[in-house]
Amino acid sequence: MPLHERYLVNVDLSTVPLLRTRCLVIGGGIAGLSAALAAARNGQVILASKAPLVESNSSYAQGGIAVALADDDTAELHIEDTLRAGGGLCDREAVRILVNEGRERCRELIDMGIEFDRVGGRIAFTREGAHSRRRIIHADGDATGKAVIGAMLAAVERNPNILVLENHFAIDLLHMDGACRGAFFLDTRYGRYIRAEAGFTVVAAGGPGQVYRETTNPSIATADGYAMCFRAGAELADMEFVQFHPTTLYLPGAPRFLISEAVRGEGAYLINQEGERFMPRYSEQAELSPRDVVSQSIFKELAATRDTCVYLDLRHLNPDTVARRFPTIKSVCANYGVNISTDPIPVRPAEHYMMGGVATDMNAATRVRNLYAAGETAFTGVHGANRLASNSLLEGLVFGHRAGMAEPVPVGDAGPAALQKRLPARGTSLDIDDICQSLKAVTWRNLGAFRNAERLAETVETLQSWSRYVLAEEFHMSPGFEVQNMLTTAWLITESALRRNESRGAHQRTDFPATDPAWTRHSRIAIDSDDKERSS
Ligand code: SIN
Repeated sequence: MPLHERYLVNVDLSTVPLLRTRCLVIGGGIAGLSAALAAARNGQVILASKAPLVESNSSYAQGGIAVALADDDTAELHIEDTLRAGGGLCDREAVRILVNEGRERCRELIDMGIEFDRVGGRIAFTREGAHSRRRIIHADGDATGKAVIGAMLAAVERNPNILVLENHFAIDLLHMDGACRGAFFLDTRYGRYIRAEAGFTVVAAGGPGQVYRETTNPSIATADGYAMCFRAGAELADMEFVQFHPTTLYLPGAPRFLISEAVRGEGAYLINQEGERFMPRYSEQAELSPRDVVSQSIFKELAATRDTCVYLDLRHLNPDTVARRFPTIKSVCANYGVNISTDPIPVRPAEHYMMGGVATDMNAATRVRNLYAAGETAFTGVHGANRLASNSLLEGLVFGHRAGMAEPVPVGDAGPAALQKRLPARGTSLDIDDICQSLKAVTWRNLGAFRNAERLAETVETLQSWSRYVLAEEFHMSPGFEVQNMLTTAWLITESALRRNESRGAHQRTDFPATDPAWTRHSRIAIDSDDKERSS
């Protein structure tokens, strides 16, 4: 069975309750909310989320939003920093849009009433790796995501044009003849199916964090958006570029809780078990090097010292400032017996963000008519081979908004029979948790910060053999669909990583350690007209 296929649940679509809307948004993070609020200016919107809306990856964002609003900053400097961090693969036009419209979108957030932190009455800007200026706005110290998403959710609730469907898992997009017609959902609270037909659909379903054993992402980050858009015929780009965040809490039994890059921005050091500040040995910018450089340096340091973690040292910083700036980090670390002002915090890198994704144009449109993608699900070209810190919320805001402003293209009616994909049922009671754990073990070993052809080829083979029976299984609950999506996405990442025979940004090949100018281009992967997977 080809990897892009998956058995839909064996229900007759014509018996499934139907909702119709002008715009359907799948995903309740910053990109989905931005899209829904924009689309609601022009008509009815359904905003569907597989979890309660407060539970998105964006809600956990700590550092903040990078935006060139400070007196000593300019759009040009922000553009240059983004391009430099991206290792030659950013799309300059997309970055220009990101930075310029980002200022407008952030002013709207301020007008919405979000209280970004201030010093002396003026907005405070913090610094993160590879930024040449203090440029990151933040709220409640290190709880920016919660403040921003909270305010946007309140705006959604007040908007009569938006119907919210929480706990609705998008099983698949409804599509035919190269056009998307909406999606087919499972209401996970009541076990009911519904069908939503839409003039246009925006997929803003987050990233692939759970594909990896170690990730900063919450459990809902199961790569659903990539897999469903791939199955619907969209093209994906640069899926090999997976960002590892340098500093996540590393204690037995504790979650891989993010320790924001802003902590280093405010002056924290990275030290090894010997207490040596090691980053200056790897890079002139030390702890404030681009994120790929810091993560890779930590992995090298761990390999050289045969240790399992390094430490983030804040002991030289003013404890009152630390407590005010990082209340969440302080409190979570305290739960595990770490006082961040007196104890170095044990940390190591973990999967954090996908730079590639569903390929879109500057208006967030995919190659499938009436299908748009935004946020971490999308590949707009702004991040290149390594995302500049705190550009992700900005991207969600800007390109989510652009997606929401789309106009549906008339594609004619398609009745349920035409959209139906009835497939023979197969149920063999697979152990979903076992598949998940096996997948995470393989990806962590072979798809991490350093890769080679032998391991990647072995991984492609392994994933294909698992897919033969996992994708052929008829599931009825979201964990089954999620594991299918993760498997498909792991395969997309591996295929893309195997093809890129060079090292650049977050993609390091030990068998091709140099950057190859011939690879200053994006990798692409899609289903071709002959129904075969094609990558280039
Ligand atoms: C952080 O706070 O370190 C994460 C910010 C980001 O991923 O851009």
